[in-house]
Amino acid sequence: MWLECIECGRKFDVGSRFYTCPECGGLLEVELDLEAIKKKLGDRGLGPEPPRVWKYRDFLPIFDDSKIVSLGEGGTPLIRCDRLSKEIGIEELYVKFEGSNPTGSFKDRGMTVGVTRALELGVRSVACASTGNTSASLAAYAARAGLRCVVVLPKGKVALGKLVQALIYGAKVLAIEGNFDEALAAVRQLCEKRGDIYLLNSLNPFRLQGQKSIGFEIAEQLGWRVPDKVVVPMGNCANIWAIYKGFFEFKAVGVTKEVPEMVGIQAKGASPIVKAIKRGLDTFEPVEKPETIATAIRIGNPVNGPKAIRAIRSSGGTAESVSDAEIIKAQKLLARLEGIGVEPASAATVAGLKKLARRGEIARDDCVVCVATGHLLKDPEEAIKVAAASRLMDGEVF
Ligand code: F0G
Repeated sequence: MWLECIECGRKFDVGSRFYTCPECGGLLEVELDLEAIKKKLGDRGLGPEPPRVWKYRDFLPIFDDSKIVSLGEGGTPLIRCDRLSKEIGIEELYVKFEGSNPTGSFKDRGMTVGVTRALELGVRSVACASTGNTSASLAAYAARAGLRCVVVLPKGKVALGKLVQALIYGAKVLAIEGNFDEALAAVRQLCEKRGDIYLLNSLNPFRLQGQKSIGFEIAEQLGWRVPDKVVVPMGNCANIWAIYKGFFEFKAVGVTKEVPEMVGIQAKGASPIVKAIKRGLDTFEPVEKPETIATAIRIGNPVNGPKAIRAIRSSGGTAESVSDAEIIKAQKLLARLEGIGVEPASAATVAGLKKLARRGEIARDDCVVCVATGHLLKDPEEAIKVAAASRLMDGEVF
């Protein structure tokens, strides 16, 4: 196992404490000895145990099992959505409902690994910047591990449900004037200055290792096959890479035969990666003042942009942006046709799928999985605004 820079290819000891390549500043990735894993699995397979993050222990870079910090994350349902399928014109459509994780988002998959890593390193404090879900999850896992937790949030821009979580789990909450990108710059500076505070944003490649399990679980839940397309909302752009990496590793060790096409969705007002993909570029231009109702993905300068571009390109996928109106429509559609309640960032996947299906870029007979990253109740204010207000005004029974 080693760390590898995705830009210059230099390799580093897996025990290194830096978050980006010390030579060129590129993003780092944890690479595993896949041949060794293949041999190990060849003897005993992955077993009949139901899916959850730690079922895929062989693919997780943790050395001391006694340090594992878990709240039972992963094992989220893959829900077949026939009524939504009909509406959109896709024959086989599933929603991977990440809202059913312990703190209500996919971040828990990363934090179980990231906070375990923090214990292995012997740090006493962890920190992150966040649009909300990362901070909620880190606060919970830090509490469970007995670590101090600092979260830096863009003031007034974090959904209520997420803020409440960080507070109740006992994190020290710092609200800064500015947006997420500025909050991340501030917390990176803090962690660079204070080596005893461990940064758990998605810049940290260990955290992403846990998020690979979304790909593992989708493949397992489909009977060890992969869908044609996996649709993922992109904010700081790490999750689409992590899911891709999961599928890539499963293929490399012979568990599955293919890697699905990765489809990344951004909100129109925060879509630098979609623009880069559409123009065929390898680099992207940050958006200075990102805006969208989907606060989770209101990010203009995604630090993991280069990883997202690679995941989309290497898998032969695509990217699309959607308006706030399209997001709201999709959020209601998913709730009312399937009983699946998601926050706006997650609904962006359904909105994007609708658009791509209409244009024929996703075919009727494609098997598609939308990754619904966060629970409806994360952002109750948005939900009540778009769903209930008009009914109350009409005098309907609430
Ligand atoms: N969906 C939800 C619900 C999120 O909270 C996020 C990211 C994403 C999608 C995008 O994932 O950043 O890996 O591309 N939320 C981060 C946070 C930024 O601070 O909670 P990504």
